[in-house]
Parts: sequence; structure tokens; C-alpha cells
Amino acid sequence: MKIAGKPYRTIWPHDDGTVEIIDQTKLPHAFATLRLKSAADAAYAIKAMIVRGAPLIGATAAYGVALAMRQDASDAVLDRAHDMLLETRPTAVNLRWALARMRDALRNRARGERAKLAWAEAAAICDEDVETCRRIGEHGLAILREAASKKAGKKLNILTHCNAGWLACVDWGTALAPIYMAHDAGIPLHVWVDETRPRNQGASLTAFELGGHGVKHTIIADNAGGHYMQAGEVDLCIVGTDRVTANGDVANKIGTYLKALAAKDNGVPFYVALPSSTIDWTLAEGREIPIEERSSDELLKMTGRLPGGGIATVEIAAPGSPAANPGFDVTPARLVTGFITERGPCAATREGLLSLFPERRKVQDET
Ligand code: MRU
Repeated sequence: MKIAGKPYRTIWPHDDGTVEIIDQTKLPHAFATLRLKSAADAAYAIKAMIVRGAPLIGATAAYGVALAMRQDASDAVLDRAHDMLLETRPTAVNLRWALARMRDALRNRARGERAKLAWAEAAAICDEDVETCRRIGEHGLAILREAASKKAGKKLNILTHCNAGWLACVDWGTALAPIYMAHDAGIPLHVWVDETRPRNQGASLTAFELGGHGVKHTIIADNAGGHYMQAGEVDLCIVGTDRVTANGDVANKIGTYLKALAAKDNGVPFYVALPSSTIDWTLAEGREIPIEERSSDELLKMTGRLPGGGIATVEIAAPGSPAANPGFDVTPARLVTGFITERGPCAATREGLLSLFPERRKVQDET
């Protein structure tokens, strides 16, 4: 995707052995980048949500291992880097997937070749993510074309929650990839962007992305989606996900479940776009997914731009009030119209997932 006409990925390596990332905590008010020099830098970037979004968390962790291997390619450092990065955030399973892939690629290789191999494997994870998201976009585009064909030339209204665009991945995005492709194909559309309290990924990141690509959109309060669905102003919803269990339950940013409930009540199709690295075949159902509990400060304070251009954080609640802040919720598979994966669309069921990933059937049948 482009920023001011220049193409960017969200993470890219340099010949000097550092890795550059976009500082998402500064968006949309400033576009700034940072250099990661060590596994600890990568862990901090994930934990502090300088990078966020399930696929990008995985990609950053992979480069975190690669950075560790450049300093010391011993087994002990490999294990330490793996474990330190794994504990940064608990819900997005792409983190575990990417770290396992890195460790598998390096574990039985000679120490002297590990640094080079690790760098190449992290780059491969990033390149594959771009291609995966592009394919999700193409499969999702077919769904959007079909929905648009029923609108007699009127614009297609799509609702999305959180940010599942290129900033959450290496490029393209999951939920937003079909939207970019539909826009580029000339399908008239408009996106309702849930603000996504408490960290406002919708208002600050999704709206920034869509605006940058010229896609018409409107930011709405998280509580407004049901109202627009009742009014017939939402044709379909597409969201991303941080973890899908073997039965098709979906963990995504807090508030996703309420949108799925409202969509069901109003007969609005509710799609979830995901790469296969987001499927956790080891968990039978959504209630087993660890849900991240985040700082109450995210709820009790807000950060924004002052009229003079400075950035300020203000308190928005009475001093002393406690706050609870789960980062994710689980949408039961029965509320999901369908998944959009890199291998195509499928039903949000165990059988639906296995129809696209038959290589998992034997393992699943044995568990
Ligand atoms: O807490 P975040 O910002 O990392 O949460 C991100 C989301 O919930 C995204 O919707 C999800 O990771 C899908 S990203 C393609």
C-alpha cells in the first residue's frame, strides 16, 4: 500500500541487520518508523502495540528470532527468544504459529548457518503473508461482486470492526483486501468503520487506510452498527480475526460479538476473513481461547491531537473508578455466515474448514 505515493509494507529488513516497522501508535497524526535491533526490541514493539494485528504480530516475532540469531545462534538463545516473544500477547495465534515455524526451521541446523536461515525464513513468512492476503482479497472480491449485483448500481455498504487492513498484516490486509480490490474494480461501495474503543483501531487506523486508498467511509461509534443494520444501511459485515478454533468459533477485537449478534438479528451476512495461520487446530472451541486483559488506562484515558497540533492524553472518567478491559471476545461460529481464506470461502464449521484444509482431517479425527 502507498503512503503519500510511496509503496510500503508494514515491516521490512535492512542490509545492516536491522528491521524497520511503522509506529502504529503515532497514526493517524504522524507517519513514523522505528528500527528493531534485537529480539527484545521486537518483543517490546508487539507488547506496546507499536505493531499490532494478528499476521503482523507473527511477522514481527519471526524477525525477532532472526535478530536474536544474528547476535548469538545458540540453542539457548533460540529458546529464550522464542519464549520471550511468545509471551508478549496471548490471543493472536499467528504469534505461536510464526515462532514455531522459525524454531522448526532452525532447530536442527548448524549454528553457523542459523543467522542467514532465520533471516530468510522471516522474509518468507512476510512474502507469504502478502500473497495470502492478496488471495483472500480475490476470494472476498467474488463475494462483494455478488452482493453488489443485487444493489442495482447503488453503493454497497460494508461494516468492519477494528483494523484488519494492511497495517494489521504485511500488506493488503484480510478484511480490507476484498474492499480494496472491489474499489479498484469500480464497484461503488462505502464502509462503516467502527471506532473500536478503547484503542480506536477503527477510527485511527482503518479510516486512515481507507482514506489513503480513496475508499468512501464513515467512522461510527461502536454502539451505532445495530442501528444502521436496522435501518437497512449495512449490506454485509467483514471482520478479521486473531484466532479461529477447529469448530469455527472466532476471537476478534472486543465488540465483534455484539456486531455479529446484531447482524444475525437483521439478516445481514457476517463474514470473517483469515489466513490459515490464524486457525488454531489444537482448540476445539472458542471458550478455550485465552483472552488478553489489557490495562484499564486504555479505557480511562484518551489520546488525541490538540488544535495546535500537539498530542495529549486526557482522563475521561471520575478519578478512582476501576475499569475492566478485555481486548477480545469470541463470536460463536453459528453467527458467522462464512470464512474467506486464501484457499477460498467456506462455511464457519469444522467440516467447512476441513473441506479447505483436508490435510488436517487425519489429525483432527485422531483428537
Ligand atoms: O489488539 P489488536 O489491534 O492487535 O487487534 C487486532 C484485531 O483484532 C484484528 O481485527 C485482528 O488481528 C485481525 S488482523 C488481520
